[in-house]
Amino acid sequence: MSNLFVSRSLDEILFWSRIMKEHSLFLKLGFNCDDTELINEADHFYKLFEAIETKAQNFTMQSDPRQIQQFNIEVHNAASMIWAFKRKILGLIITCKISGNNFPLLVDHTSREAAYFATRLKELNEGKLKPQPAAIIRENVFFLRIMADHAKFIGHLLDPSERKLVEQARDFSHDFDQLLFQAVDLEAMQPQSETVPLIDKLLDENRVSVKSLRDFKKSARDLIEACKIKSIIHPLLADHVFREAERFLQIIDLFEAELTGTNTQSIEDIANHGF
Ligand SMILES: [Fe+2]
Ligand SMILES: [Fe+2]
Repeated sequence: MSNLFVSRSLDEILFWSRIMKEHSLFLKLGFNCDDTELINEADHFYKLFEAIETKAQNFTMQSDPRQIQQFNIEVHNAASMIWAFKRKILGLIITCKISGNNFPLLVDHTSREAAYFATRLKELNEGKLKPQPAAIIRENVFFLRIMADHAKFIGHLLDPSERKLVEQARDFSHDFDQLLFQAVDLEAMQPQSETVPLIDKLLDENRVSVKSLRDFKKSARDLIEACKIKSIIHPLLADHVFREAERFLQIIDLFEAELTGTNTQSIEDIANHGF
């Protein structure tokens, strides 16, 4: 149990602290050059999450779970602080107090990822290591929305002359909006919808679309790196959204494994005792 706690905690922190560090960079690049206070704040968060990443790399599976529990609290506080910073920026943009190149939806999106990270750390410290049916549905709603946003960002940051790619991005956006609404409907039908066949179908359907979005992002990233397409997408942003799709796929597989290992259990058993 402790081993699982240590490995899950370190896995979440290593993945999301790099993501938070990169958000700080993207936000900084989107500010006007005279918004020096905001630029400095973004730099501060970049360094904070870089230090967290390094600290996480120095822990091992044999580390004391109590130390990890303490580290989770520390990282939770950092994630909450960057969340507040992102919400402050969002407020400044939508009240026209600052201008720049950060889309409000992108800032909101990165704040949702920070909130997700903070919640995961809290759940881990509460001992919630195995996903419950309700959590699987909720997590799919979260990630489908993230994927739908990515498709929209890619579509808007590509040069308008890249007609074919813009069209493909628009198709992905539509596909993920549909999947998102399906998952939201399933969420509304809880707890009755928490059945193994329905959750299994949700995972199967999402996996197919996430795989093709992941491949689209991978080829976009490679084309951007090779300077073969016209866009204002930072190469690191292309890689960043690719990694987040990979993460969703890993989570889908993890859920699937938990689900198939419990085929003989009734859904009440699962709801009462977990997978
Ligand atoms: Fe992100
Ligand atoms: Fe994202």
